[in-house]
Amino acid sequence: VKKREIGPGTYLYPLPTLLVGAQVEGRPNYITIVYSGIIQHAPPMISVTMGKSHYTGVGIRASGSFSVNIPSEKMVEVTDCIGTYSSSQIDKCGLFKAFYGKLENAPMIEECPLNLECRLADTLDYGGQSITFVGEIVAVYAKKEALTKGFPDIEKIRPIIFSIHDNNYYSLGTLIGRAWQAGKGYTQR
Ligand SMILES: Cc1cc2nc3c(=O)[nH]c(=O)nc-3n(C[C@H](O)[C@H](O)[C@H](O)COP(=O)(O)O)c2cc1C
Repeated sequence: VKKREIGPGTYLYPLPTLLVGAQVEGRPNYITIVYSGIIQHAPPMISVTMGKSHYTGVGIRASGSFSVNIPSEKMVEVTDCIGTYSSSQIDKCGLFKAFYGKLENAPMIEECPLNLECRLADTLDYGGQSITFVGEIVAVYAKKEALTKGFPDIEKIRPIIFSIHDNNYYSLGTLIGRAWQAGKGYTQR
């Protein structure tokens, strides 16, 4: 089998579409991002990467905190709107009901099923047009309807899945197996 080399790129599938919130000049601001990743399990750390010029990043630096909000698929239009227009073009503040947690200055989105409240731990700059903020997740807030037995349920959250480079949003697929179960006995077959 001969593979075709297609050049370097950020081809990672699937990417969750996220809304990052930060306080900018005393008001909540939001940015849609897909460049995000879990850094480690404990203490729980997450990274969010955004263009250096974005308003939300200015707020993260100034306040030392941010939120990562997971919109559900029924929020696809407002999520796309937040990612299409900058705060210099529209007032994003009024698009959501904001609430605050223990850090008191990381605006979180009431309408999203899941919210991660983050304290800025590190800033990474690899010299490009983007900057990466690493945050410690200090608290998680969930809508009751998004939980099963007290834990987030992906089928209830119904995240918006992003396909990089063709710029399409997808809905969640089907359950195909259980982790730490599906591979049991595989080598004996
Ligand atoms: C689906 C989607 C994904 C996006 N992902 C990112 C991203 O990972 N990083 C980024 O800097 N901008 C991303 N953007 C663009 C920003 O959301 C957009 O430029 C936004 O207007 C910035 O808002 P602000 O300047 O008010 O902070 C994305 C936009 C969309 C629609």
